[in-house]
Order: sequence, then C-alpha cells, then structure tokens
Amino acid sequence: MSVVVVVGTRPEIIKMAPVVKELEKRGLDFLFIHTGQHYDYEMSRVFLEELGLPKPDESFELENGNPAAQTGEMMIKLEKAVGKHWSRKPRMMLIQGDTNTMLAAGLTALKLGLRIGHVEAGLRSYDWRMPEEHNRRMIDHVSHQLFAPTEIAKKNLQEEHVWGEVFVTGNTVIDAVNTYFDKVREVEDKVLKIVKFNEYVLVTFHRAENVDNPHVLRDFTRILRKSPLPIVFPIHPRTRRRLQEYGLWREIEEIQHLQLLPPQGYFEFLALMKNSRLIMTDSGGLQEEATHPKIKKPVLVLRTSTERPEAVIHGFAKVVGVNPVVVLAELDKILSEELKLPDQSPFGDGKAGVRIVNTVLSRLEA
Ligand code: UD1
Ligand code: UDP
Repeated sequence: MSVVVVVGTRPEIIKMAPVVKELEKRGLDFLFIHTGQHYDYEMSRVFLEELGLPKPDESFELENGNPAAQTGEMMIKLEKAVGKHWSRKPRMMLIQGDTNTMLAAGLTALKLGLRIGHVEAGLRSYDWRMPEEHNRRMIDHVSHQLFAPTEIAKKNLQEEHVWGEVFVTGNTVIDAVNTYFDKVREVEDKVLKIVKFNEYVLVTFHRAENVDNPHVLRDFTRILRKSPLPIVFPIHPRTRRRLQEYGLWREIEEIQHLQLLPPQGYFEFLALMKNSRLIMTDSGGLQEEATHPKIKKPVLVLRTSTERPEAVIHGFAKVVGVNPVVVLAELDKILSEELKLPDQSPFGDGKAGVRIVNTVLSRLEA
C-alpha cells in the first residue's frame, strides 16, 4: 500500500520536505511525482537536492503555459503516472497548498478514487482575484483529511462545512526551518559576502494580481526607487518577464541601492531573511518563515489581503497594499520603531510533519 506525494512548485517542495522525510523514516512506500509546473533548476531541482529529497519517480515536462490548459495537461499526466505504478497499491494522495499543480492533483486523485490529504488546508484571503483562492477552496472541498496549520484555518473550514476530517497540525514550513537551520549557518558567510549592503530590506514579489498588472508593477518600481534603505531582491522569473514586457527592466537595473539576485536556494534565502532589517513581500511562505524564532523579522505585506492573519495578529506582519505613498510611510515608520516581536511562531511547533504522517498511517490502516 502506498501514498502518492505530488509537488510542482518551489514552496511545495520546501513544505512537503518534512512530510517526505517522515514517510521515509517510517518506511512507508510512497510514489513521488513532480509535475514540472516550475522547471528552472533554481525554481525546482535545487530544492530537491538541498533538502535531500529522493529523485521523483515521475516528473513531467509541460507543453502548456496557460493556466487551464496547464492544469488539464497535469491531470492527464498525473493519471497516467499513477496508473503506471498501480501495482504499488496507491491509496492516498498527499497535496500541499493552493497552486494549479495541487488543483490538478486533487481532481485527479478524486477521479482515481484515492483519498486526498491536504496539507496547509483552510487558508482564506477572501480575495477572489487570486487563482490560489480558487484552488484552495476547491481542494479543501474534495479532501478527505484536511491538515489545517492553525485554529483560524480550522475555523475557516468548519464555517464552510467541508465534509472531510480536519486536524490542526501547525505549518510544515516551521519544521523545515528547524531541520535545515544548521545548513543556513554554513552558507551564511558566503551569502553575506555577495550582498553589497550592511543593512537591507529583503524584497520578493511575484503574485499574479500584482505583477501581471502594469500599474501595480510601476508602483512597485517606484517603491524600490524611493526606499530609504538599500534593497536585496531575489527575483521570481514571472516578475522578471513582466518587468521586461512592461518596459520597466532598465529602470530597475539603474537603481543604485537595489541589488537584484537570481532565485536563491533555500539555505541561502533563509540566510538573507535572517540578516535583513525587514522584509517586504507578497509571498505566502515568507509571512510564515519570518515568525520563526531563529528568523524573527517584521514583514510589510505588499498586498491588500492575507490568508495568514496569524502573522498580523501576533505583530510580525502588516498588510500595506501597493500604493507607494502608503508603503513608503509604513517603511519609514517601521524603521523608526523599536520593535519587540514574539519569541514564538503562531504557525506551529515544528512537529507538523509527524502529526500529518501519524494521521495518514492511521487512516490507511483503517
Ligand atoms: C505559482 C503559483 C503561486 C505560487 C508560486 C510560487 C499558481 C496559480 N500559482 O506562481 O501560488 O506562489 O508558484 O513561486 O499555481 N517561470 C519560469 N521558470 C520556472 C517557473 C516559472 O520562467 O521555473 C515563469 C514562466 O514564464 C511562467 C511564469 O513564470 O509562465 C509563471 O509560472 P507559474 O508556475 O504559472 O506561476 P507562478 O507565478 O510561479
Ligand atoms: N524561497 C527561496 N528562494 C527564493 C525565494 C523564496 O528558497 O529566492 C523560498 C522561501 O524561503 C519560502 C518559499 O520559497 O519557503 C516561498 O516561495 P514563493 O514566495 O515563491 O511562494 P508562496 O509562498 O508565495 O506560494
């Protein structure tokens, strides 16, 4: 009897790593599939290698880039890939988060009659512009076991009357930071030698509703240009492409106090977080990692909503939108304040992977 674990993008590899490690530890047979939604080395394979994950049993090269066609193509390929390994008796599919990969995986599991375990269930931004909000709602409503990271996520699920079982586990990203933090120390000196500034804001920006909108991207460029503190910006390939398409690339390159970097490996990126003065981002995962006691950084969320209210409630994050006047005022404010952040993360105690695998095993044996 086996479990199918599906990943396809950068954050899924990172957040599934603790679950995969736990499955390995318990000696459970699992089929590991990478859909190829992210395909550049620095967006996918670097994480499999750094985090010591097995080579996927199956990985795809996708022909379609448009969301609907890509989701359909992933479903067709996932059905074939699982079928190829049917003799291993797959019973459950484990999926994580809210990307198109996960929507494709969830629907495929449903059609194949596999149980679905959803890691990081119950997040809601209530922002219907976001493809992630569509995906997470659909996935949560077809899942059998829903692993909510927090009580707030559990409440969201209960309010929507999902029919699967809900468990509060913590977020696996906290497990990941715990597990790999020694490696962060190992690369820290090397990473900091590359950084041009002693004190900097770490910036990431890639959400579709932000970077696919030229007005937002222009405002974002203005924020970078006017920032009172130097900026280190590991750039997502989607954002690089859009900046080039909208004619903003040269302007970005000419900002003297801005250092552009390619997408970073996980240890390198955590080292950048740890040594930053603060973080400005529209990423989901960064809002969680910033609350880890070993990182503990304030975050300005460059969005109008968040599905991680815990980071805001506990004083780590502030949702500031993308209006340059507002963001720059918030930046000034935060730089002038003496901040006291909590010593505990609201996203769990680092044992989410163990809890998830315990439940998986108990349901497979039932
Ligand atoms: C996806 C997820 C998003 C997640 C993000 C993590 C969806 C709807 N979105 O967004 O929730 O936060 O991953 O980073 O699933 N590209 C490359 N090389 C790569 C990957 C992407 O060049 O390895 C470029 C391509 O031009 C591609 C574009 O980025 O078309 C967008 O990639 P895609 O996977 O569709 O969405 P992300 O923006 O990465
Ligand atoms: N990350 C990384 N290198 C980078 C940028 C991010 O390793 O250059 C990690 C980060 O630590 C976090 C995850 O990737 O664990 C977040 O991914 P992303 O922001 O792309 O997606 P989201 O969390 O918004 O879905």
